[in-house]
Amino acid sequence: MAGINAHYHLSQWPVGSAPEPKVSAHRNEASPSGAPSGNTPSLKRARQGGEDYHLPVLLEEVTHYLAPKRDNLYLDATLGGGGHSEQLLRVGANVIGLDQDPAALSFARARLGDYRDSFGAIQGNFREFGEILETIGISGLDGVLLDLGISSRQVDDADRGFSFSKPGPLDMRMNPDVEVTAAELVNNCEEEELARVFYEYGEERASRRIARGIVERRQVKSFQCTTDLAQFVESMVPRRGRTHPATRVFQALRIAVNNELRALEEALSEVPKWLRPGGRLVVISFHSLEDRIVKSYLKRCSQAQVDRPEWPAPKKNPEHYFKLVINKGLAPSPEEIKSNPRARSARLRVAERLEKAASTS
Ligand SMILES: C[S@@+](CC[C@H](N)C(=O)[O-])C[C@H]1O[C@@H](n2cnc3c(N)ncnc32)[C@H](O)[C@@H]1O
Repeated sequence: MAGINAHYHLSQWPVGSAPEPKVSAHRNEASPSGAPSGNTPSLKRARQGGEDYHLPVLLEEVTHYLAPKRDNLYLDATLGGGGHSEQLLRVGANVIGLDQDPAALSFARARLGDYRDSFGAIQGNFREFGEILETIGISGLDGVLLDLGISSRQVDDADRGFSFSKPGPLDMRMNPDVEVTAAELVNNCEEEELARVFYEYGEERASRRIARGIVERRQVKSFQCTTDLAQFVESMVPRRGRTHPATRVFQALRIAVNNELRALEEALSEVPKWLRPGGRLVVISFHSLEDRIVKSYLKRCSQAQVDRPEWPAPKKNPEHYFKLVINKGLAPSPEEIKSNPRARSARLRVAERLEKAASTS
């Protein structure tokens, strides 16, 4: 398939029956109490392996809720440094890892080289995961993981342009093959469009003022460097608290460059078709825009009935695909946030695929 760089080692992709995850303990609140499996030596090792690249967030919780089983097949749609995948592979599960960033794939392939018979890494956007799975002959999955956003390596590498604290090209593309960079947006978008991006994707209250300032400034000198843009935004918006004034503008540009919210919506809508009954969808989001999309999608698809004021009675919900495994978004424990401050905004949501009959009866 064009555009897909497939390098997978699995000799035989399993097409087994539905799994029955046995979950021993649920943690329903944003509280560390009742954490599923504790700081076991194997979890510690998993963290250390790719620590320099990215510390996997909510690793114990993801493992607990995906409940991986030997020979079952899982899609890690955001492979990154492979930290979550490694944890699944350790118990003998098969994993397909997807990432749009070729640098992530190279790292994860090297790290997970010992699992060549049970692990495959494919470059692609998760919005196309269904097409990708069809291409490699997969018929169903026992679990799907989406650990959204960017990895620590992507943030820390100044050449990728994600960070406002280090000088680098204003790039922000997760996939270097896509055409539009952040610099292209900042230097070419109409003022109104820039303001919309800052407001909708950054929830930036000063969106219009910043957009106007950028348009005036770029007539004199275009923006090419991350710190140039960050300092310019700082000169326009007073610093409130510890958050850098350019945080929201950078978030907005990153979301726009990578079309992140649309990709998430498209990937979620494809999941029911692929998850086997009992299989679980686990999603970690890092800001309210992502979490809102996940939350409202899962709410919509976990209700048996739908109702509208103009209907005489509620009707069966044709999208009743899931039951919620946890009702609220789960936050990392204070202990995890202390050891990995980048985890602080993470929220985990989990849903389980119902028997297919539930959606059609
Ligand atoms: C937070 S990191 C994942 C870290 C990983 N779970 C680990 O343990 O190392 C997110 C990864 O997802 C990738 N990514 C983000 N959006 C994507 C998309 N739409 N399609 C494919 N990969 C995506 C990023 O390139 C990044 O490597």
